Amino acid sequence: MEIDRRAFIASLGGPAVVAMMDHEAKAEALEHYMEDKLDEMVAAQQPEKFPTVAEIEAQIETRPFRRGTGSVFTGQRGQNVKIITPMPAKPTLKDFFELRFAPANHVLQSATRAMKTGMSEEIILACLLHDCVLSLIKPDHGWWGAQLFEPYIPEKSAFAIRYHQTLRFYPDEEAGYEYPDQYYRIFGHDYQPPQYIADTYKMLKNHKWYMEPRLVTVNDLYAFDPNAKVSIEPFEDIIGRHFKQPKEGLGYDNSSSAHMWRTLARPDNPL
Ligand SMILES: [Fe+2]
Ligand SMILES: [Fe+2]
Repeated sequence: MEIDRRAFIASLGGPAVVAMMDHEAKAEALEHYMEDKLDEMVAAQQPEKFPTVAEIEAQIETRPFRRGTGSVFTGQRGQNVKIITPMPAKPTLKDFFELRFAPANHVLQSATRAMKTGMSEEIILACLLHDCVLSLIKPDHGWWGAQLFEPYIPEKSAFAIRYHQTLRFYPDEEAGYEYPDQYYRIFGHDYQPPQYIADTYKMLKNHKWYMEPRLVTVNDLYAFDPNAKVSIEPFEDIIGRHFKQPKEGLGYDNSSSAHMWRTLARPDNPL
């Protein structure tokens, strides 16, 4: 077993404490430390115990908000919400990324993966946008997300966003997509998607654009590198080519989803 010297010394209280220990005490401390580390390694190899649907349902009344509430409406980790930065007068997609979808690590990493693996610009854009609507609302986020972006993006990208939600429930070995552990965690290991999702899947399987949402799921990973530096900059050219930024600003162009952008802009409005 490899020992991280610094972590070991820190676990004892730092170099000053270690300096006061005799040889035997140090040897004993090292043994305890290694035992603990070994226990941790064994625990990490145990299969994770996923909750049942009933256990997840039992949590509903333990919260002051519903799980499907968009993140701009709730405080982080039980804290009160903060004053939100106002949007500029004519907000762009980038402004929303910085002020409402932030930190947006998940979508930025998905899009980065899509770019690295040479996917089409429509797919890269779909990956970049696929979960942004979670700031506003979570249930049926595929449909909500597609509706939010539809007036501004290629049809294929909107299709991919709308249906990635459905395909997330169905593995496709050939495409390289497995059912995610995260879904056992958040839906329960015995969860069965409702009928409308099953019907949508059936429709998609025979659709000529099946691979569009499928590729979003392939890039839709939860195993993030917490140290990875991601930003919107590498995608600005693709946004420029494929996102029709309205000159009035998002929310003020009278599109079919303008109201959704305004709600994101002003989540504190009482009505
Ligand atoms: Fe999603
Ligand atoms: Fe996602």
